[in-house]
Amino acid sequence: MPGIVIVGAQWGDEGKGKITDLLAEQADAVVRFQGGNNAGHTIVRNGETWKLHLMPSGILYPGKLCVIGNGVVIDPKVLTDELDELRRRGVDTSGLKISANAHMIMPYHLMLDDAGEAKLGKLKIGTTRRGIGPCYADKASRIGIRVQDLLDEKILKQKIVAALEPKRLALRPFARDPRLDLQAITEEYLAYGRRLSEHIQDTTRLVWDKLDAGASVIFEGAQGALLDLDHGTYPFVTSSNPIAASACIGSGVGPKDIDEVWGITKAYGTRVGSGPFPTELDGELGEELRQRGGEFGTTTGRSRRVGWLDLVALRYAARINSLTALVVTKLDVLTGLETVKVCTRYRGEDGAEFDHFPYHQSVLHHTVGEYVELPGWSEEIGEARSVDELPQNARDYLAFVEQFIGVPVVMVGVGPGREQTVWTDAGRATVPGRASAAQAA
Ligand code: GDP
Ligand code: IMO
Ligand code: MG
Repeated sequence: MPGIVIVGAQWGDEGKGKITDLLAEQADAVVRFQGGNNAGHTIVRNGETWKLHLMPSGILYPGKLCVIGNGVVIDPKVLTDELDELRRRGVDTSGLKISANAHMIMPYHLMLDDAGEAKLGKLKIGTTRRGIGPCYADKASRIGIRVQDLLDEKILKQKIVAALEPKRLALRPFARDPRLDLQAITEEYLAYGRRLSEHIQDTTRLVWDKLDAGASVIFEGAQGALLDLDHGTYPFVTSSNPIAASACIGSGVGPKDIDEVWGITKAYGTRVGSGPFPTELDGELGEELRQRGGEFGTTTGRSRRVGWLDLVALRYAARINSLTALVVTKLDVLTGLETVKVCTRYRGEDGAEFDHFPYHQSVLHHTVGEYVELPGWSEEIGEARSVDELPQNARDYLAFVEQFIGVPVVMVGVGPGREQTVWTDAGRATVPGRASAAQAA
């Protein structure tokens, strides 16, 4: 039975939370494999909204195995707050398992993230300031603190001392900050360890056991392909690999355990933070789409930059992820536009044309999109539940995207609610049982 990876195919916030929650009903486990609480994944069920940052988006199913894999970086304060909030709202969180090998975000990571951005000034990345970059840097430098270290006071203290040592200069502005007191950090993190201990496990083994027993496992990505540390718009990226290959590394399974890769894309584009965005809309139309799509960050509340759908970038995302299926969300947001544009090519500063994603940063920074203009539709589509309930022009739009990318569109989002989903024929054909069960929910 399948291992299904769900990844963002743009710059994040594509609706991964909604789709993961939907598919999780038929799955036996959901695994987060990278990123941290820079992610904000939204689920809307019966009008009730859930915003998850570290918790896998299968947590709303009582007792469902939900794994925070070794590739995730964990801020234990955020995680314990999230657990408390879910329990307060009546959610059974007993299915949560946390990898003992996942790295911890420490107070000094938050300080370094802030200081790094301040130092970059106008060139700042626009990070979420959640300490993500500095934490992954410590992991790569082999001075990170892992979940298992929270269970041993002596080891924890030693490791914190070793991690602080090379940062003395950078942390000098915070020298008197009580958050840097060694004893205080140690005690705080030991307390988190006690609090989380019932959830800490060898999660790799848990996931193997599920897969070996023929169960289906969803690997839930955070961020999106263009924010990938290696393949995204570096340096305006996150510090992990949000692409499908990372599902293996961040959970401990092999490539053969992955059967499907679902890429989630909005029907248009958004990006939070700095960096190139060739199809960006600056004017009134951008503002209109931002308001209509509610394009304000789930984690930081920042306004998201908005633009037309970039098919050059999406085709690139499809290739680096080996996408087997495409989910197009937020189609409803485009309703009412006379025409809808899709970017099929870039034009560089010197007039050069690109039908592929240019590798060179300076080239990409100066490209603008070239567009095909498709007819829009005026009918509200929030109530549509099958493709034939969508206006012909909306169907033509989807067909254009599908043909250009060469990956079947299996599902379309027509609103934030879990039920506001349309399965296409291709979706039903791939997974008939899954489609009908999810539709009935
Ligand atoms: P994620 O990070 O990929 O999980 O996405 P976010 O939760 O950060 O942002 C997606 C936003 O769009 C959330 O507010 C969702 O509730 C909302 N959303 C998801 N799918 C749809 C859709 O098809 N239509 C509309 N209008 N909103 C959607
Ligand atoms: P989800 O999972 C959108 C962006 C930040 C910034 C860059 C680096 O909800 O799709 P970081 O804090 O990771 O060092 O910031 O990455 N970013 C996201 N943008 N959605 C996310 O997550 C993001 N996580 C990070 O805005 O540009
Ligand atoms: Mg998000």
